[in-house]
Amino acid sequence: MEAHCPKYLLYGLLVLGSWLLSCLLHFQYFHLSLYSSFAAPRHHTLVVLPVALDASFLPAPTVETETRRQSASVVASSSPSPSSPSCEGRYVYMLDMPSRFDMLRDCVAGSPLFDDIWSWCAITVNAGLGPKISPGDANSSDGGGTDIIPSTGWYSTDQYSLEVIFHNWMRRYECLTDDPAAATAVYVPYYPALELHQHLCGFNTTVRDGPSEAFLRWLSSQPTWAALGGRDHFMVAAKTTWMFRREPGGGDEGCGNNFLGQPESGNMTVLTYESNIWAPRDIAVPYPSYFHPSSAGEVAAWQARARAAPRPFLFAFAGARRIKGQLAIRDRVFDVCDAAARRGRCGMVDCSHGLEGSITCRSPRKLASLFTSARFCLQPRGDSFMRRSSIDSVMAGCIPVFFHRASTLRAQYRWHEPEPGRSSDDDRQYYVLMNSDDVLEGRVDIEEELSRYTDEEVAVMREEVIKMIPRFLYKDPRVRFQGEMRDAFDITIDEMMARMRRIKNGENLVWKGDDTDEAAEVTANDS
Ligand SMILES: *[C@@H]1O[C@H](CO)[C@@H](O)[C@H](O)[C@H]1NC(C)=O
Ligand SMILES: *[C@@H]1O[C@H](CO)[C@@H](O)[C@H](O)[C@H]1NC(C)=O
Ligand SMILES: *[C@@H]1O[C@H](CO)[C@@H](O)[C@H](O)[C@H]1NC(C)=O
Repeated sequence: MEAHCPKYLLYGLLVLGSWLLSCLLHFQYFHLSLYSSFAAPRHHTLVVLPVALDASFLPAPTVETETRRQSASVVASSSPSPSSPSCEGRYVYMLDMPSRFDMLRDCVAGSPLFDDIWSWCAITVNAGLGPKISPGDANSSDGGGTDIIPSTGWYSTDQYSLEVIFHNWMRRYECLTDDPAAATAVYVPYYPALELHQHLCGFNTTVRDGPSEAFLRWLSSQPTWAALGGRDHFMVAAKTTWMFRREPGGGDEGCGNNFLGQPESGNMTVLTYESNIWAPRDIAVPYPSYFHPSSAGEVAAWQARARAAPRPFLFAFAGARRIKGQLAIRDRVFDVCDAAARRGRCGMVDCSHGLEGSITCRSPRKLASLFTSARFCLQPRGDSFMRRSSIDSVMAGCIPVFFHRASTLRAQYRWHEPEPGRSSDDDRQYYVLMNSDDVLEGRVDIEEELSRYTDEEVAVMREEVIKMIPRFLYKDPRVRFQGEMRDAFDITIDEMMARMRRIKNGENLVWKGDDTDEAAEVTANDS
């Protein structure tokens, strides 16, 4: 497997291409009028999948095929591992999907699509984790001379791959049932983000909305839908909420579709990477980072490494500048880091310089070595508030610094952020929140502010971040995990089942935030 260098090169190009594209698209989405001729150079050719032959979804990893077969035939007796709770109230029915809605239907072993850099097939590599990161070469320009990444468990994971990873985890879920009537919830293995990628920008709204609307019409005509109007259905949409919601009257310019604005999606629980915290209708779950361990020992070893890492930089930043004036906080962060870098206080991975910059920024090794070399990692908003980089920062044990409340893990990841056993309004200190206006208007100096934390305070905060690592990573879905550890998927599925039991009990959870009062309070407190 590891010998397919050309594939990885292609994969790299794919990732790069998708990144550039999404940058352009996001940019365009938020600054609609500016660059309409600039959009999506090759989008027409992105994914052109011919009509499919059969209904099998992803090429299933071997382990998983077995599990699936087993759970399909003898679900009721498939015994959960001794430590897991019983399946009572946790059964999930996984919908069978017609192949026409399978975005990866042609990604079968040997297909030339794997060598087509514009095809999404590469996203299926290693069950969605992407190519494994090979053991570090200390000389490699890629590693900055450090070899922080261990030889196992790290992958070049595409940021949009959660639909695939999650689906693979659902296939192994211990409480699948063949009987919809026995299920607490229905999982819909549709990939709205991959579907949207085919016509993200530069098409009229009919083209952008059509396929997902057709899918929703099909979905709501299924027998499973009728009982609760789809309110017991859940799925993943691996982008931010903004890409799936168009303001009423939004025209043919711009990007994204209105998948989440449809009445059917309004009834389902859809997991995105970022929700609108002011009108909480979706639930956000963490972006996948690069670390996908297969044992608790691997996680503990990484945590020890992150804890022990020498951190010569006070702070660090990885990202790209926006066109001057478009995103003032980004410019400020760049300037501050540039100035501090001359004194050895800030480390930067600059992704601003076209192709070269974006290649740099897709290097997990480079990012991980930067973030493990700094005490604080600056996370100014990008096109939206939540960045994947914030999750990378947690993985590296780097204390995140936010500039908007909507960027905080606490505001976005309400299922994953709280530490089990501690009250939700605990005063754990593990991040810094500066007001972006204060920074921009000179009332707060980033470096000065961060310098105030003593070594002891930093150590305490970092320990909190390191404790969060398991909750923000996705285990390797191909193997049985060795040891006890609850990851982002486990937390999601538990919370989802709790939510679905409430829905089944007749509660009308109107907002997708579980608690209306809390959501209202969040709105009131935000400026
Ligand atoms: C790695 O670097 C060392 C010294 O910096 C050098 O002697 C060695 O030849 C390099 N190895 C490779 C594979 O470039
Ligand atoms: C949208 O674009 C498609 C293909 O480019 C075209 O066939 C269709 O007529 C357009 N629809 C509208 C309403 O403009
Ligand atoms: C959404 O759920 C409500 C309540 O169950 C139901 O009346 C309505 O028809 C559902 N909407 C769709 C589009 O199925």
